Amino acid sequence: MYKNVVDFIQNHYQTKEFLPLHEPRFFGNEKKYVNEAIDSTFVSSVGKYVTQFEEMVAQFVGSKYAIATSNGTSALHIGLKLVGVDEESEVITQPLTFIATANAIAYCNAQPIFIDVDRDTLGLSAEKLEDFLKIETFINEKNECINKTTNRVIKACVPMHTFGHPCNIEEIVEVCDRYNITVVEDSAESLGSYYRGKHTGSFGKVGVFSFNGNKIITTGGGGMIVTDDEALAKQAKHITTTAKVPHLYEYIHDEIGYNYRLTNLSAALGVAQMENLLIFIKKQRELAESYKEFFKNLDLDFILEPKESISNYWLNGVILKDRETRDKFLKYTNDKGVMTRSIWRLMNKLEMFKDVQCGDLSNAKWLEDRVVNISSTVVL
Ligand SMILES: Cc1ncc(COP(=O)(O)O)c(C=O)c1O
Repeated sequence: MYKNVVDFIQNHYQTKEFLPLHEPRFFGNEKKYVNEAIDSTFVSSVGKYVTQFEEMVAQFVGSKYAIATSNGTSALHIGLKLVGVDEESEVITQPLTFIATANAIAYCNAQPIFIDVDRDTLGLSAEKLEDFLKIETFINEKNECINKTTNRVIKACVPMHTFGHPCNIEEIVEVCDRYNITVVEDSAESLGSYYRGKHTGSFGKVGVFSFNGNKIITTGGGGMIVTDDEALAKQAKHITTTAKVPHLYEYIHDEIGYNYRLTNLSAALGVAQMENLLIFIKKQRELAESYKEFFKNLDLDFILEPKESISNYWLNGVILKDRETRDKFLKYTNDKGVMTRSIWRLMNKLEMFKDVQCGDLSNAKWLEDRVVNISSTVVL
């Protein structure tokens, strides 16, 4: 069976050379725009491409404002700060995620709480979230959600759209609204994915995207904060630009800010990639469709977009029978030069987060033992 998988992937890519999980593709105006940025001498965080890239992403996602950042992690960090997450706060997220989600909470000196995912979406479970909040929290006189165990305020919740597959974000926002918890959507992986017809990242108070080299489109390294809130958007731009107060010649900074802005060079790449985003999405979905057909005949579950969703299928995955089978599959494919990877180790198993409060994590544990990512580069 494993041989069939390797043969299928090598045939698809017409190569027996090493195949990475994801490679960027540049077939549009990338070189032209990057050269233009160089010629203009505006290579840092000021320049027409930064603004243009922000406008394109805002329009595509359907958010009023977009603020470009140096990467998705910095976007998440600022997203959390914007909604008031600080050292007094706790933040709910899923244990099955890329490390950046949990790290961003730690950068705010806040405490994470890990709540389980759903098996069909791989994202935060609205039911498990509600169960936890019902039993473990109360609302105080200031309308804050208080964790009974720690007596601290649960300020925010960060659901993540795993591999581009939307989680049940509307239900999650609805639960969080009832408990006065603000949603910061980690949509780093899900540009081009929709839940009930609405783009991911536009459900929470703030949404965040990544344009790392392995994402559906890339700026080399880059990120984006999206929001409909004008005040938050202004503040996002301010604190990602060292909190500098505009002045003709003086350096005045009115709070601790960050040097988190995207460069014009990177944005030039981003604008060119955005021009072809619909092609990238179409090609990712075609690849997923061919995997779906292929895996139908094998004893392997190919991970499909959840119901009521359209996924960008940024990263394809399969579910193996158990951990032993998973490890055999990983070894066989990697030995043959077809790169595959296990899903992330659960955050609560990492040294830094081992003492973090967790709900029942049975689905996350089940998936951790079984999910493997397979080649996801599009063929143009
Ligand atoms: C779920 C998730 N969150 C956050 C990030 C952080 O983005 P970046 O690598 O651009 O910092 C990534 C990806 O890299 C991610 O997959």
